Amino acid sequence: MQTTITEIAPDWFRLSTFSPAGIQFNEFLLRDTQPFLMHTGLRKMFPATLEAVASLIDPKDLRWIGFSHFEPDECGALNQWLQVAPRAQAVCSTIGARMLGDFADRPARALNDDEVLNTGTHRMRFLSTPYVPHCWDAGLFFDATQQTLMCSDLFFHPGNPQPVTEGDVVAPAKAALLASIASPTGSGMPYTPQTDGTLRRLAALKPHTLAIMHGSSFRGDGARAILDLARVAGEALGAGRTGATPAPH
Ligand SMILES: [Fe+2]
Ligand SMILES: [Fe+2]
Repeated sequence: MQTTITEIAPDWFRLSTFSPAGIQFNEFLLRDTQPFLMHTGLRKMFPATLEAVASLIDPKDLRWIGFSHFEPDECGALNQWLQVAPRAQAVCSTIGARMLGDFADRPARALNDDEVLNTGTHRMRFLSTPYVPHCWDAGLFFDATQQTLMCSDLFFHPGNPQPVTEGDVVAPAKAALLASIASPTGSGMPYTPQTDGTLRRLAALKPHTLAIMHGSSFRGDGARAILDLARVAGEALGAGRTGATPAPH
């Protein structure tokens, strides 16, 4: 597997591997005094991800491994990274850290909502976002230094699109969401009473760059894109949709 590297914002590198499943798996490396890797990538993709990281930093220097929620593409290769980087530590939500208690070879650092992790010249703000994009332990990271939002599965769109777009990322995300509803992954993003508020909170951060795990990264009016996505999610998954089931309590 081949991994493509693109600098999507100053010091932020997108490491993209196109899978035979027809989707991209993107990790994001922040090259700072304390290097930060967002998503470990799949366990089976580790050699390709490691090679990409090694072209940017000495992998032994990796300090932080962030992820949104406990899933193979988010943290499946965590133990492989902990082996090559002796000072590396996972950072995630409190629930995520609890789940890693059994899975990970070293304990994770749990972050509270709005807690800031300083990596040297960048400040990474952690946002607790249960069920957004999915899973109860979900959280997202925002580089407050230069307004870059790590979106995890938000804006998911398949295929092998260009690394960065200033065009429309909502339309492909909407198409993918609608296509998924009738598929076995149709319940991938639960719509809870908090979903809209969580997305509005993300929009209020006014990100300039959206680092999207599956698909092109986006540069431009991130607030607009997130509000548009919130509308699409509400229409497709919210209580107003035809045949909607009551939101969970
Ligand atoms: Fe996920
Ligand atoms: Fe994902």
